[in-house]
Amino acid sequence: MPVPKGVRGGVVTGWGIAVPDKVVTNDDLSLRMDTSDAWIVERTGIRERRIGGTTSELAIEAGRRALERAGRRPDEIDAVILATTTPDGIVPGTSATVQHGIGVPGGAFDVNAACSGFVYALSVAHGLLAIGAERLLVIGAETLSRITDWDDRSVAILVGDGAGAVVLEATDGPGQLLSWNLGADGSLKHLLKCDHGGYLYMDGKEVFRKAVRVVVESAEQAIAEAGLTPADIDVMIPHQANLRIISAACQRLGIPEEKAVVVIDRYGNTSSASIPLALDDALTTGRLEPGMNVLLTGFGGGMTWASAVLRWGG
Ligand code: UT7
Repeated sequence: MPVPKGVRGGVVTGWGIAVPDKVVTNDDLSLRMDTSDAWIVERTGIRERRIGGTTSELAIEAGRRALERAGRRPDEIDAVILATTTPDGIVPGTSATVQHGIGVPGGAFDVNAACSGFVYALSVAHGLLAIGAERLLVIGAETLSRITDWDDRSVAILVGDGAGAVVLEATDGPGQLLSWNLGADGSLKHLLKCDHGGYLYMDGKEVFRKAVRVVVESAEQAIAEAGLTPADIDVMIPHQANLRIISAACQRLGIPEEKAVVVIDRYGNTSSASIPLALDDALTTGRLEPGMNVLLTGFGGGMTWASAVLRWGG
């Protein structure tokens, strides 16, 4: 949807990430299961991933870094919104642990839209700014390693742990969000799932096929509703599930692949942490600058999908 004119908008004023110290390479995995570095790199683009910690620990660290960069104290934040599909437990929400850990006095809630979670959370955060919130901490954090069967090569080679956070502040002007869309199709829940006490299961081939289609449709819609064309997108920040999915989506959207930020080689698939990890990379390497048009787009279990177009800096 296009963001209506006159709505109180927001801008990202700080960002930060946290990843576990432990690096697990493809060669490490090939000692344990029937796979190889060559296969994983060719079929996914992943070279290594980080494993360890808990979702709340990673979220707290990333959140503190984002606050530091924004020059904000925890008591200036109205709410913590945590996108995660790997909460520390079922109850309480992990966001409450994060809120307490960081020392935010405001509210806290989890968003579970699988790998689309960060874009869902960011969209909801803009809604809260529109109704009066001043500052929000939006985090995507995951420990997929905890729900992975490390003998199942169909999933184990893909996943990693990590977190990324942004501070979102209200502005008087229109803010940075130009358009957004959220989608879901629960009839596809069997393609990617984890039951209570179980491990992550994925029909990789089918998820791949559907992912390319929904990402392209969702991104095209968000770009058009922002009043832009694919040629106007300066930086694309896609969910990092498979380099081949990113390439296929770029090709079909008509966005040159060089415009897509890729961190999957270093972190693997970190579900709702993958977009903020890539966003941080784009910002710290100077690829994303104020005034640029940036497309965030993701898909995941549910299935869910979500895209947002922002003019960086508002
Ligand atoms: O976050 C969102 C959710 N996840 C995704 O978006 C994942 C989407 N799917 C994928 O990324 C890919 O489907 C995978 C990476 C999971 C699998 O890649 P693929 O190209 O679809 O491989 P495949 O399942 O068609 O398998 C091709 C071959 C098979 O051998 P044969 O039958 O051709 O002899 C597999 O047995 O590769 C074999 N294979 C492997 N070999 C080494 C499958 N997995 C592995 C492996 N290591 N880990």
